[in-house]
Amino acid sequence: MSGAQERSPGGEARTPAGTGGAEERIIPDRGRITPARGGARERIAADPATARERIAADPGAAEERIAADPGRAEERIAADPDAAKERIAAELDAGRGRSLRYTEVDDETLVRQHSPLMSPLVWDLAHVGNYEELWVLRQADGAEALRPEIDAMYDAFAHPRAERPELPLLAPDEARRYIAGVRDRVLDALDRMDLSDPHPLRAGGYVFGLVLQHEHQHAETMLATLQLSRRPGLVPDGVPPSGRARGHDQVLVPAGPFQAGTSGDPWAYDNERPAHRVDLPAFWIDRFPVTNAAYTEFIESGGYGDPRWWSPDGWRWRCGRRVTAPLFWARDGRRWWRRRFGRMEPVPPREPVQHVSWYEADAYARWAGARLPTEAEWEKACAWDTRAQRALRYPWGDAAPGPRHANLGHRTARPAPAGAFPEGASPCGAEQMIGDVWEWTGSWFAPYPGFRGFPYREYSEIFFGRGYRVLRGGSWATHPSSVRATFRNWDLPARRQIFAGFRCARDLAPGET
Ligand SMILES: [Fe+2]
Repeated sequence: MSGAQERSPGGEARTPAGTGGAEERIIPDRGRITPARGGARERIAADPATARERIAADPGAAEERIAADPGRAEERIAADPDAAKERIAAELDAGRGRSLRYTEVDDETLVRQHSPLMSPLVWDLAHVGNYEELWVLRQADGAEALRPEIDAMYDAFAHPRAERPELPLLAPDEARRYIAGVRDRVLDALDRMDLSDPHPLRAGGYVFGLVLQHEHQHAETMLATLQLSRRPGLVPDGVPPSGRARGHDQVLVPAGPFQAGTSGDPWAYDNERPAHRVDLPAFWIDRFPVTNAAYTEFIESGGYGDPRWWSPDGWRWRCGRRVTAPLFWARDGRRWWRRRFGRMEPVPPREPVQHVSWYEADAYARWAGARLPTEAEWEKACAWDTRAQRALRYPWGDAAPGPRHANLGHRTARPAPAGAFPEGASPCGAEQMIGDVWEWTGSWFAPYPGFRGFPYREYSEIFFGRGYRVLRGGSWATHPSSVRATFRNWDLPARRQIFAGFRCARDLAPGET
């Protein structure tokens, strides 16, 4: 995201996938815990199949093992603090595994800036370690700075992405040594830390969740950078599950109030809080994200050339940039191709469209006689269980995302076809709301009633009211531990390098019930 991904503690803002918005924020657990007795690191070291090896062998399975039930983290920690620390250590290891995997490339690829929109990969690599040092070692554990002279270079707010290639960044090997040294100390701090301490960063191990989600968000940013690099062979692919043949289809979300946001989710960022009631009239929403086939109809019918479908800002953007198709698409005669991680391939018709800006999503919706859902509508369609009158953590319930539910965590390097996850349907019948593509909504990024910034203003607060649009649901590149129904990403409406698509909504027609 753009939103959630790039923000650092001092840092910039953006999302796990980067683009915009919410990059790094989490709320402290408030569970009561007793100090752990053994060391998480020793327990992991004693197991010859280390977490990292297991994860490297089967990343999907590792996530399932680790993810247990994040919704009840506090209870789990209170019941067994040693197991909680072991789980935190394994999650940290899984996150680091991704960072290292995406930077196992030649040094030239690491230090080069592939787009002015993105940092050199070696910046992201050292930045995740610097963020971890700042928040876990210094802020939560009281340590002195390890390398105070590098702090400013890795402060995302001090240096916009365009400037970063000019900084005297740590060389790739030095960056790897630095983040490994930080991680050793972080695991020592985890062993020592009393997670029942009421300090908001230490309580329930909140600070570890903060750095863990941050690292996963940068992993998604790294994938966006690798996509922009045009270089083949750098990103592992996979085969997505097949979709089932379905026509265009909308589901009805009945009128009534629902609970938006959360006050109790230990992983939630400040911008997701607090839970609050929102009353909505009934509306229709697409069962699936808009597919490449549907989007191609918009293109072929002259949608990019007709100002009727575009907002005034969108039309200016389209004309100024001479945009005629999603980013990375090219036409060959009558056929559309796309470049995906350095290789050209025919555009697969049943996949959700990705790499479209908010302006394009908005224009398509108007052309289709619809509109983008508001973020409240999106969240209600995603997770409100009308019968039980409660909000679920995910569309399918509170269980952690598994391979039957959603396309998350880079199981494949692409969205899955529409209809691939019937078991991930929400109570109203909407599918693929989590995973595949971030979904643009019609809403501006703004605070919920009762918002309180934590743990730093730069995570969300400075982005409110600044022209950012909200995205929801995560993409195929988003890690399961850093997305949920309440998660809000944000980005500028012109951004297209993020893994974003959309679905449409519409009001009920007169007499429709
Ligand atoms: Fe960051």
